Amino acid sequence: MIYIINTKTFIFAKKNNMSDFENVVRSRRSIRNYEKTDHFDHDIVKKSLELSILSPNSSNMQLWEFYRIISPEAKEKIAYFCLDQVPAKTASELVVFVARPDHVKRSIKFNLDLINDPDNFEKESRKEKRRHYFSKTMPLFYSKDFLFVFSIIKKLIVTFTGFKRPSVREVTVIDKKVTIHKSIALAAQTFMLAVRNFNYDTCPLEGYDSYRIKKYLKLPKQAQINMVVAVGKSATDGVWYPQKRFSYSEVVKEI
Ligand SMILES: Cc1cc2nc3c(=O)[nH]c(=O)nc-3n(C[C@H](O)[C@H](O)[C@H](O)COP(=O)(O)O)c2cc1C
Repeated sequence: MIYIINTKTFIFAKKNNMSDFENVVRSRRSIRNYEKTDHFDHDIVKKSLELSILSPNSSNMQLWEFYRIISPEAKEKIAYFCLDQVPAKTASELVVFVARPDHVKRSIKFNLDLINDPDNFEKESRKEKRRHYFSKTMPLFYSKDFLFVFSIIKKLIVTFTGFKRPSVREVTVIDKKVTIHKSIALAAQTFMLAVRNFNYDTCPLEGYDSYRIKKYLKLPKQAQINMVVAVGKSATDGVWYPQKRFSYSEVVKEI
């Protein structure tokens, strides 16, 4: 159960019947202020990112990168680019989650190599289908598009085929961006829960200057910042407001 005492002090006590997983999920909060310490265990960030990498992701394309901001100088810079938000300024480490649509060729090769690996236990018929998927469908979906021309053509094709049978409608360059960011957000969530499992805290941030962060990290134009996650040990005033959500019946539709 989570107790919020005088809206500032955040005390967490595990209920007897709570599973470890429920405990981790229920005790995660966006922490806005972190303890100042020289004893932050940076290894838990490494371990949490190793778990993040196991997150489900669209077609196993893994179009993501994770930049650990560890040195005080780099942290100060990135915190400034995060508009000097308190969680960024007080965090022991910051992790920048980055989308890499420019890594498509590398990801296709990775998956084709996996299919062709002699140790791959996959059925031969499935291998053939997946080879086609990675050598034809993926290059088409992730193809570059000048002035949306290709997107419009693809959209017209799926609208037409959609009259006859169920078809994937998300084929434009904008859809491609959403697809990549969905997967990275899942990785970020795995990361935040993993950090919580190690008894540390996080705060996801999207209030930042992506242009300046990209420039500082020497990222190419095509790379996109998905979010920055602050990591540390919550200070006693780390939780700034109670956790409230719409109720189950308001947001869940049982059909
Ligand atoms: C994509 C995303 C971006 C966010 N950006 C910020 C941010 O820039 N600054 C901030 O203080 N909190 C940010 N948050 C945290 C949310 O405000 C927070 O998750 C929400 O209020 C619910 O609170 P809880 O995480 O403690 O349950 C962000 C959360 C998400 C998922």
